[in-house]
Amino acid sequence: MKVLFLLAKPIALVAITFTSTSLLILFFQPHPSPQRPDSMARSFVLWLHGLGDSGPANEPIKTFFTSPEFRNTSWSFPSAPSNRVSCNRGAVMPSWFDIHEIPVAAESPKDENGVLKAVQNVHAMIDKEVASGTNPENVFVCGFSQGGALTLASVLLYPRTLGGGAIFSGWVPFNSSIVEHIQPDAKKTPILWSHGMADGTVLFEAGQAGPPLLEQAGISCEFKAYPGLGHSISNAELQYLESWIKTRLQSSS
Ligand SMILES: *[C@@H]1O[C@H](CO)[C@@H](O)[C@H](O)[C@H]1NC(C)=O
Ligand SMILES: *[C@@H]1O[C@H](CO)[C@@H](O)[C@H](O)[C@H]1NC(C)=O
Repeated sequence: MKVLFLLAKPIALVAITFTSTSLLILFFQPHPSPQRPDSMARSFVLWLHGLGDSGPANEPIKTFFTSPEFRNTSWSFPSAPSNRVSCNRGAVMPSWFDIHEIPVAAESPKDENGVLKAVQNVHAMIDKEVASGTNPENVFVCGFSQGGALTLASVLLYPRTLGGGAIFSGWVPFNSSIVEHIQPDAKKTPILWSHGMADGTVLFEAGQAGPPLLEQAGISCEFKAYPGLGHSISNAELQYLESWIKTRLQSSS
């Protein structure tokens, strides 16, 4: 039954989130923004979904990013490959790497080798975007749950400074030895970490373990705790993400 819990819950809650989003957008669109920047350098937002989910199912997230600063933003919602997942008794489903136990706690065993392989694929997606002319400091990697854990590993192990990494309801998916391999430029990438305090799937304590580890490595991290929020993404989190990215967008490419 844990399979159902883990899969069905995030999808159902994300669907609810989108319904209320469309209403908000309808209400707020008639007011034009006073200062419209003439041109924005190209930016790139890569969104990594959670276990058992798919990239296309998460595409409505971009409807939150209505500020004019985002009109030169390209989005990517890749889908994870199908893999056996230990915590779901070996069932095959979209999964970036293996998860041994649910709920995920701070001390849960980690599939570090699987994470490192998934990180290579994420780096290839970023490299392709940078090769096509996007300033790496206009590249933002964001992810939910397993995708949030992969976001953390991907931005920390990327050799250059990125615009930012945003982790929602995620955890630290590697052993602390990886911290020694973080290059100086990667340490300048800002991290936003959001976690629901009522999360029963990836425990709040698993999220709380992140910031001290980052601080120890000299990486700046903003941690936001959401009281009453379970294992899902709320409108408030996405609205904050929009402003967080907006203030970090570079005007030059
Ligand atoms: C988008 O970004 C590219 C490269 O940074 C730039 O050449 C182009 O003028 C921008 N377009 C808009 C509409 O701002
Ligand atoms: C990381 O720790 C796990 C236990 O959580 C262990 O099984 C694994 O071998 C370790 N990985 C590496 C590369 O040291």
